[in-house]
Amino acid sequence: MASSLAVCRLHMKGRGSLLKCLQKADTFFRRNIGTNAVAAQEEKEGFKSLYAVQEERQEQAERSVLISCQSRTNEKKFLKYLSRHGDINKYFFYESYGIYAVVEFSNRESLASLLEEAAIPGVSHESMLPFKSRLLSLRNLGSADSPNQQSVQQCQPQTSIPINELIQRLSREESIDQQITSLTDVYQLTEENSRLRFLVCSLLKDIAAAYFPECTIKPFGSSVNGFGKLGCDLDMFLDLDGISGRNAKMPKSGLWLEYQMKRANSERAVTQSILSVIGECVDQFGPGCVGVQKILNARCPLVRFAHQPSGFQCDLTANNRVAMKSTELLYLYRELDPRVRHLVFTVRCWARAHGITSSIPGAWISNFSLTVMVLFFLQRRSPPIIPTLDHLRDLAGPADKSVIEGNDCTFVSDFNKIQLQSNTETLEKLLREFFEFYATFAFNRMSISIRKGKEQNKPEVAPLHIQNPFETSLNVSKNVNVTQLERFVALCQESSWLLQQSETNTPSGGKEGKASTPWGLATLLMPTQVAGIKGRKKRKREPASERIKSLLESLKNTNQPNKS
Ligand code: GTP
Ligand code: MG
Repeated sequence: MASSLAVCRLHMKGRGSLLKCLQKADTFFRRNIGTNAVAAQEEKEGFKSLYAVQEERQEQAERSVLISCQSRTNEKKFLKYLSRHGDINKYFFYESYGIYAVVEFSNRESLASLLEEAAIPGVSHESMLPFKSRLLSLRNLGSADSPNQQSVQQCQPQTSIPINELIQRLSREESIDQQITSLTDVYQLTEENSRLRFLVCSLLKDIAAAYFPECTIKPFGSSVNGFGKLGCDLDMFLDLDGISGRNAKMPKSGLWLEYQMKRANSERAVTQSILSVIGECVDQFGPGCVGVQKILNARCPLVRFAHQPSGFQCDLTANNRVAMKSTELLYLYRELDPRVRHLVFTVRCWARAHGITSSIPGAWISNFSLTVMVLFFLQRRSPPIIPTLDHLRDLAGPADKSVIEGNDCTFVSDFNKIQLQSNTETLEKLLREFFEFYATFAFNRMSISIRKGKEQNKPEVAPLHIQNPFETSLNVSKNVNVTQLERFVALCQESSWLLQQSETNTPSGGKEGKASTPWGLATLLMPTQVAGIKGRKKRKREPASERIKSLLESLKNTNQPNKS
């Protein structure tokens, strides 16, 4: 019922409503920027907080449009046609169920003018849901260009290269450190992919704005924390903080008016209602949004769907401010030392190659858990590479104070206050020691806590216990079963061992263009090389360190060179 009212609003206001919505967003944006002294200060000092990055990207997205093009679009003609509405700041093409272009104008008026001119599709046999969005189709009724007139668009890749190609590429590198940085370069989100993610959030915000004009939809998780791989899902957060009453200021005296609002039993019930209605709108009116599922009874209610024009698998949540804080925290750790990002990428890729993680829900170790495990390992180095969360909380100023649903989510936002210790360990050493660390970790007794930076006694029976950084009574890896943990440990043992073998850690010397023998990290990404795990898992194993020591001894005895 509620959704049909919104449809009416969308239907009746049509184009005017979309333009008004854009103008409102403009005002809202300016208001936010005006008060964001923290972000301005950070930019001056060369750091950009996640908050500042999000503001900038959101604003770009509000000036952008997504256009489905024909497969051989004449780029020059296309740009000339669009430029009639104003200057184009940036554009790019990509392929996903057809060719698409993202076009960012220099100002909103240009975008409004373009939307003003766009036509309603004529239909003969079908009926249409008359919802206008910034997803458009390019039509051409003119004569086709002759092949030599065509300057066909170059598409920007939006998915990562297949693992076999990655293995080949890594095999051509000259050191394991280079392999690790190369893996990050290949897999990390590109500038274009990041823009596309913000644009999809912005398109969805136009739908949600039919009910909540002041809302924003922000990406969180790996889309923005710096650990996202091309092809990762798009986690979104419907932010209604501006109208939630959470930060409402009551006048001290005199008369005032307040909105009458319907009440619900709990915050959870409010979130469920909002997501149910927005989910319905996305399903019924969102162009390109398919397979919409409302998963409202989950611990964190969400709407899941595929956004076909971008190729993103999307999860829309609301009132998920703790996850937003975790994203900020991961972003901060990522910024503190480049080794954080390289190691996280490598471990995630390794885990994926061996089926330790999966995009299908199940008893797997999630990417988020793996990231926390890497952070914990880096806190345990001597000297530590990154500080504990408790230390980051102690450095926080009054403006950083954040308590969400009774959980202390405070940590410092000013990077300048964080003093790092001097640790110069190479990526190769860190990767090897990561495997060694978890190959021998006392998972049966101990819990992993990045808040304390020390193993803690396990508070509950669960094969793997990773303390949730902010909701400290929760275990982020509650879903993991014994089998999956055993697989992880066995793979850590094998990988640690492999990295110590001279045949693994010596470059194979392949040249550009030639197939080279996999070595180093490339070997670790090949399930067939990290073999024998299933069979050996059943035997009682001595700790990997002991096993490795004896293997090294036997190698010395047979006079084999060993680089480790
Ligand atoms: P990929 O999507 O696998 O690339 O990684 P991701 O980090 O985006 O993970 P995911 O999509 O599963 O979750 C999105 C974000 O939600 C994470 O980055 C965390 O901030 C948060 N999150 C995920 N799982 C948990 C959890 O169990 N507890 C808490 N507190 N936050 C979580
Ligand atoms: Mg994600």
